[in-house]
Amino acid sequence: MCGIFGYVGKRSDAGKLVVEGLKNLEYRGYDSWGVACKTTKGTIIKKDTGKISAVNADDFAHGCSLAIAHTRWATHGGVTAANSHPHTNADGSIVVVHNGIIENYQELRKELVAKGHTFLSETDTEIIPHVIEEEMKTTSDFASAVRNACTKFEGRYGILAFHKTSDILVATRTGSPLIVGVSKEDGYFIASDIPAFMEHTKVVQYLDDGEMVVTDGKSILFTDLITGEEKPKREIEITWSVEQAQKGEYAHFMLKEIMEQKDSIARAVNQDDEQIRVIADAIANASGTFLVGCGTAHKACMAAEYFFSVVAEHHVNVTSAGEFKVHHHFLKPESLVIVVSQSGETADVLEAMNIAKAKGSKVLAIVNSEGSTIHREADYTLLINAGPERAVASTKALTGQMAVLLMIAYAMNDKLHDGKTLLLETAAQINDMLNPRYVNHIESLADKIQTHENIYIIGKSWNFPMALESAIKIQEVSYIHAEGFAGGELKHGPIALIEEGTPCITLAGNDEVTQDIISNTIEIKSRGAMTIGIAPENNEAYEEWIKVPDAGAAQAIMNIIPIQVLSYFLAVKRGMDPDMPRNLAKSVTVK
Ligand code: F6R
Repeated sequence: MCGIFGYVGKRSDAGKLVVEGLKNLEYRGYDSWGVACKTTKGTIIKKDTGKISAVNADDFAHGCSLAIAHTRWATHGGVTAANSHPHTNADGSIVVVHNGIIENYQELRKELVAKGHTFLSETDTEIIPHVIEEEMKTTSDFASAVRNACTKFEGRYGILAFHKTSDILVATRTGSPLIVGVSKEDGYFIASDIPAFMEHTKVVQYLDDGEMVVTDGKSILFTDLITGEEKPKREIEITWSVEQAQKGEYAHFMLKEIMEQKDSIARAVNQDDEQIRVIADAIANASGTFLVGCGTAHKACMAAEYFFSVVAEHHVNVTSAGEFKVHHHFLKPESLVIVVSQSGETADVLEAMNIAKAKGSKVLAIVNSEGSTIHREADYTLLINAGPERAVASTKALTGQMAVLLMIAYAMNDKLHDGKTLLLETAAQINDMLNPRYVNHIESLADKIQTHENIYIIGKSWNFPMALESAIKIQEVSYIHAEGFAGGELKHGPIALIEEGTPCITLAGNDEVTQDIISNTIEIKSRGAMTIGIAPENNEAYEEWIKVPDAGAAQAIMNIIPIQVLSYFLAVKRGMDPDMPRNLAKSVTVK
């Protein structure tokens, strides 16, 4: 969370460049923004509350070849201009932007106040330039002062810093991602995510945890943050294109990404057969397999529990990454932990991965973001190849994750080819399904239910995790209270919530549980619910029916698509920005 972006090099429009680039990181936080430009006339800092997308980059076009910028997702201190980054020391000579949390900031702040430092914000970040200033009393070398300061910080951070008297940009990483973009023509870019500089270069170098980088725009030096030992880095060419990361003809990224799923699912399926078989064998032979993720990725894991049960007759354990800590008691070196993450940077997932590694268990990462920390640090990896997902609400990453997991389940049953065929057919059916008439039908349903305060969703088997996922999608973009339930659970409590006209959505397939979920739908209909079926077959239990193709074992993937479209329209009709829901950020790098 929080996006940081810095540049140093030959260009004289560094301020404009970082503002433009930061707009591509807005999904990481959009409470407030700030920019610092080092010019020949001194440092110019501008910061405010609001979205970086509303800032005119041309206002920062003045001559400057070093600049840093920040888009904030508030953790410590409210959403105010004073709490926005950059932060400086008292005389403004040291300028810092930061992503993460300095956990011992209160203690450090007390020590600094005792030494006479004064503070203007409530943030943890503001102590950073002050600690660096203290370190500059023992060294005149700015980079060494930053290095020494970092030994005092506890927590997770990605920091960009510069000093008014030197032309270097310094970055350090402990826990929060930082990636360097390398351009022979322009110089060096350092950002929390690649889209910030993708239009300038596709050549990257990754900072690992506990590393520091120093650049004057002409050369760059990576070192160990503690020892100062040089860390040579490979230059890696990224495969994502600029177009993939843009909205194109769509009003919002969310809609674009929903519409892309016909292709992204096919890309997820297009994996090397041998690699999938190796993974299937690893699961079959592991002494306990754990599937771990957060939020939507966790729902993909829950769906996979059904895939492995029904398709491969194999039991796996599923845990939300935030809860995984407790499961270390069960881990053995022979256990396999599969971490599922779009961003590959989620703090709870990283923690789960580290717990597993500490126990000697092997970790397979199913990720979307190539080069992310989880992708680089897992023992085995599988990319879902969904392309950049920019909307905060995850759509195409979810279906990519489920496609890969279903394919592995088929491989465990020696039916990899059948699994691939089913998934490719599903992708083609999604393509046909998402035609303008279909989308309009869902839009008119959104119109009908958008004023309701509550929406409930029920499902059974693999449609149960999709009911939970439906609730996440509706809540996060439309702010309507939504809850998902296993159909069979209704009469054990939740049915008391149903009132006359409450919209209740049933997710169904054509399978062994169809009759059960229809019975559950009839139960709620007889309590006055407005029932909406998302199913291959219509039924008199449904007042409204959204038809989906029969996708067999891939029905969960199929059924979530109309829900994504519905959530999108509920948000738009209620006047919300579906790409940037309140209080949220795309990549949750704090615990
Ligand atoms: C909801 C959503 C989140 C993420 C969760 C995990 O639409 O996107 O619930 O799924 O924060 O993120 P990743 O997959 O990046 O680990």
